[in-house]
Amino acid sequence: MKEIDISSNIKGIQLSSCIMNASGVLCQTKSELKNLMKSSSGGIVTKSCTIKSRVGNLEPRYFEWKTGSINSMGLPNLGIDFYLNFLEKSNTDKPLFLSISGLSLEENYLILQKSSFSSKLSAIELNLSCPNIGENILCYDFHKISDYLDKIFHIYKKPLGIKLPPFFEDSHFRKMASILNKYPLFFVTCINSLPNGIVIDIHKETVVIKPNQGFGGIGGKMIKPFSLANIRKFYTYLRKDIPIIGCGGISSGKDVFEHILCGASAVQVGTKFMNEGISVFDRLNQEFFNLLKKKKYSSVNDFKGKLKNFNKI
Ligand SMILES: Cc1cc2nc3c(=O)[nH]c(=O)nc-3n(C[C@H](O)[C@H](O)[C@H](O)COP(=O)(O)O)c2cc1C
Repeated sequence: MKEIDISSNIKGIQLSSCIMNASGVLCQTKSELKNLMKSSSGGIVTKSCTIKSRVGNLEPRYFEWKTGSINSMGLPNLGIDFYLNFLEKSNTDKPLFLSISGLSLEENYLILQKSSFSSKLSAIELNLSCPNIGENILCYDFHKISDYLDKIFHIYKKPLGIKLPPFFEDSHFRKMASILNKYPLFFVTCINSLPNGIVIDIHKETVVIKPNQGFGGIGGKMIKPFSLANIRKFYTYLRKDIPIIGCGGISSGKDVFEHILCGASAVQVGTKFMNEGISVFDRLNQEFFNLLKKKKYSSVNDFKGKLKNFNKI
């Protein structure tokens, strides 16, 4: 019998496991990043950073329940210089993805300029989908996004992928994919949190987080059908050489399998990582490995994208 291999490859970036952390969850500080370096995560994604450090929104700004999470963090991060210095000094074999989220095109220019000197970065993940910073989500503006990406790809020639918000309509998937297909994208990550949810404390009759009158981005189990649909649609409409990194609702090896069956080449874990801590990667790797064994698959490529339509027997 062939050996089972849960590794993956994103355009030459080799991940020892196809499972890694999602930006923003336990990847902001030195100790959190060091913890990830010691873990069995296949790669490391940093907290989305801005040019200067930010404290983010007032607390409570994160709340979790059985099937999901809501947050309005407001991009707390230690600033680009911290992440570049830290990664430059780091001693890890894991691929490093620097997530960036400048609040304007000019800010992203500056961040990209600084990042272009780094010898340690495997790729940038450009977050164009943050739901909690008061601005509109750029990716929802099809007019602006094309011009924005023209400018970004004009100045930055190293590996760069984009983190997308969730889309819900077929015409929007088609439109977004036709825009993205014009650029030398390294990967696309689907999806960021579902924007503008509300969670209520029935006893107090209040919202559960302080910022933005309680509106926040939703993650966790309950968003999985949407992340799967986004992966599937973009797998169908994007150029075949643009890998998809799946994110949203992963809490078991079965969820990882479903993301890959829809077309993801690798996956990221947010809410479940927050909830379970660093050992989540050992558990997910093991569950995913066991599932492949049971299904007699030996690698991710055996079933990637091969979701079948429902046929009556
Ligand atoms: C506390 C928290 C902070 C987050 N911060 C970021 C961030 O800085 N950048 C980003 O691209 N996504 C951020 N996200 C979104 C996650 O990376 C992920 O896309 C989303 O939570 C869906 O994955 P999940 O269902 O596994 O949580 C954050 C999510 C949470 C819960």
